[in-house]
Amino acid sequence: MTAITARAHTNIALIKYWGKKDPKLILPYTDSVSLTLNDFYTDTTVEFVDELAADQFSLDGQAQVTTKITPFLNLVRDLAGINLFARVESTNHVPTAAGLASSASAYAALALAASRAAGLNLDQQALSRLARRGSGSATRSIYGGLAIWHRGEDDATSFAEPLPTPDLDLAMLVVLVDAGPKPISSRNLMANTVETSPYYPAWVTHNQQAAQQMVTALAQNDFAAVGHLTEQSSMQMHATILASDPAFTYWTPETLKAWAIVKQLRADGIPAYATMDAGPNVKILTLGEQVPKILNALQADFAGRVLTTTPGPAAKVIGAQHD
Ligand code: ADP
Ligand code: DP6
Ligand code: CO
Repeated sequence: MTAITARAHTNIALIKYWGKKDPKLILPYTDSVSLTLNDFYTDTTVEFVDELAADQFSLDGQAQVTTKITPFLNLVRDLAGINLFARVESTNHVPTAAGLASSASAYAALALAASRAAGLNLDQQALSRLARRGSGSATRSIYGGLAIWHRGEDDATSFAEPLPTPDLDLAMLVVLVDAGPKPISSRNLMANTVETSPYYPAWVTHNQQAAQQMVTALAQNDFAAVGHLTEQSSMQMHATILASDPAFTYWTPETLKAWAIVKQLRADGIPAYATMDAGPNVKILTLGEQVPKILNALQADFAGRVLTTTPGPAAKVIGAQHD
């Protein structure tokens, strides 16, 4: 059969997804809103092959277990009505499991490559639903630019959609506090937060409202509101995590240092807002013209550890090789 290579970019949530109402189908408790990034992505090649006795998976040239991708490939096989095993080769142009959303680009690329390799031609909504089954954040990485993941109420209604491009020159700086793998996966920690954090119900109510406010702020090109909502959603997520049992945070002292620089920039009149995910790294949402000033402010503490990026494109097929 044909080997298909797909590329999907990571996305950073401005309004976070944190917690599954249905862990099997990956249905979230709240909507979330994200920005797909231009400079971080995953390339994945999938080929369904007659001679294989099991799925094969390599990441960055190293053989991997298939515990997570085989159940995902089973969904694709069921959809396509095939029963061949697959050879999957993936390369991350993003640190893996470091809180920089490798699972988002990974499962968006795998959804697109595997479905095409299996002979399916899914539209973006169907791809978004399929990617969701691999990793929640991947639901949004099917699209370029800004996307909203509607939490929905079942498999058919929980998918992401693109949001209109605002008249804002959005930029994001990534402060690499630690690019190594996180001590606890997002999956395990969010389950424990749902189960044990007394703040979780408040998070759901508030974050769901914030997602709607974000859509409005973007439609109005109101960057101060977009930035404020972004920082608040992240801080509220981390507060909810901190209150879980056992108490936990992904943050390190350097995370707080970077956040303090962002707050000082704002006090100096520069629009910059911090957002942190399941890891200590700090992403700064700003406008393109502000990037040099922000780089300058980070120079003393984070020289050589800041990457600048802009909105990125939708997932796409970048290669097809016929036998
Ligand atoms: P991150 O913050 O990077 O999204 P997660 O804990 O959510 O961290 O996801 C990391 C996991 O995603 C990895 O342990 C691996 O199972 C999976 N993953 C990452 N990159 C790939 C890839 N290119 N292909 C398939 N799975 C991947
Ligand atoms: C903090 O999508 O990695 O980045 O659905 O279990 O694979 P699973 O988790 P994942 O969680 C992402 C959490 C987050 C916020 C976000 O991306 O919305
Ligand atoms: Co992830």
